[in-house]
Amino acid sequence: MRVMVTGSAGYIGMPLVETLIAGGHEVVGYDLQKAPHTRQVDIRDLVESDLEGFDSVVHLAGVSFAPEWTDTDDLIWDANCEGTRRLIEHAEEVGLPRFVFASSASIFEGNTDEPARLDTRPMPVSAYGRSKASAERILRSSTIPVRIALRKGTICGLGPNPRLDLVLNAMTLAAMRRGQVFVDGAGTNNRPMLRLSRAVRTYAAAATVDIPPGCHLYNICDDNVTIVDLATEVCKHTGAELVYREYTGRPRSYVMYDEGSDALLESLDETPIGIEGMVKEVYSEFECSIDSLPQVSADPRLDRLDQINREMRAQKADKDTHSGSKRS
Ligand SMILES: NC(=O)c1ccc[n+]([C@@H]2O[C@H](COP(=O)([O-])OP(=O)(O)OC[C@H]3O[C@@H](n4cnc5c(N)ncnc54)[C@H](O)[C@@H]3O)[C@@H](O)[C@H]2O)c1
Repeated sequence: MRVMVTGSAGYIGMPLVETLIAGGHEVVGYDLQKAPHTRQVDIRDLVESDLEGFDSVVHLAGVSFAPEWTDTDDLIWDANCEGTRRLIEHAEEVGLPRFVFASSASIFEGNTDEPARLDTRPMPVSAYGRSKASAERILRSSTIPVRIALRKGTICGLGPNPRLDLVLNAMTLAAMRRGQVFVDGAGTNNRPMLRLSRAVRTYAAAATVDIPPGCHLYNICDDNVTIVDLATEVCKHTGAELVYREYTGRPRSYVMYDEGSDALLESLDETPIGIEGMVKEVYSEFECSIDSLPQVSADPRLDRLDQINREMRAQKADKDTHSGSKRS
C-alpha cells in the first residue's frame, strides 16, 4: 500500500515508517524536521495534490505535549485542530480511502468517575485535550470512507527518537542518572500507560489491514497507574530514592479501559502487559543506550516546553519571511 505519514520524524513516526517499509509498503513522510523518507514541510502548507494517490494517511504531526502551562495554547490549537481540519478537507477532495488520526486518552481528562470506554463522552480539560477531541469530531463526521481515531495512553520506551519528557521515560532516566525519581505533589493522579512498540504495531495495522468503511475508535493502553505507584515501581526495580517535590499546578489525571473496534483488534494479537513488565522493559532498553541519550534537566517537561517555544518562534519567523518575500 502507499501510506502517507505526517510527523514522520517524531517519537512514534520514525519507528512507524520503519515498520511500514519493513512490511513492504511505500511510505512518504511529512515533518518539519529531517528524517528518513521524509519531506520537510509544515503540514498546514500541504495542498490537495499532496494527498493524491495514497491508500491511507496516518496523521501524527502536531504539538504532542500537553503543558500545564498555557503559553502554547494558540499553537496547539492551530497545529492540532486547524491543521487536522485542513488535512481532512484535502483528503475528502481527493477521495482518500482511509485516515488514521493520533488522538489521545487526554480527551477524557475531565471524566473522573470511571475509566473511559469507547463510548464515553470526551471531557477534555487542557488545550491539548480540547484540540484532540475537536480534531477527532471533525474526522468522525467527515466523508472519508474509513476513519480511525487511536486514543493512546502515555507512551513509554526508547525508539530511534525518544521523548524523554514522557513520565516513565523521565523517571527511568532520573533513576539511572541521578539515583532519584521525582513525584510532583502527592502523585495520586492517574495515567494510562502504553508501550511504544505496541502503539507502532497498532498504527501500522490501522493503516494497512482490511477494515470495513465507517468510523473506528480504539482506546489503547497497557495499564492504568497512579504516578506515585509508577515511581515506586521504578524505585523498586532500580534501587533509586523516591523524592516528592512541591507542586502547586494542576496534575493531569485520566484513566481508560483498553478497548477497540473489532476489525482492528482481530488483526493484532496483543496482550497488554502490566506496569511491572513495562518498567522492566523500559529499564532494559535505556540500559543499552544510556550513554548516547542527551542530558536533560530534573524536569524534562520544561526542556520540552523550551523546545516547543523555540520551534514556535522559528515557525513565526519563517512565515514572516515568506509573507515578506511574497509582498515584495
Ligand atoms: N507520545 C505519547 O504519549 C502520545 C500519546 C497520545 C497521543 N499522542 C499523539 O501522537 C502523535 C505523535 O506523538 P509523538 O510522541 O511521536 O510526538 P513527537 O513530538 O515526537 O512527534 C510529532 C512530530 O510532528 C512534527 N510536527 C509538529 N507540527 C508539525 C507541523 N505543523 N507540520 C509538520 N510536522 C509537524 C514534529 O516535528 C514531530 O516530529 C501526536 O499527535 C501526539 O499528540 C502521543
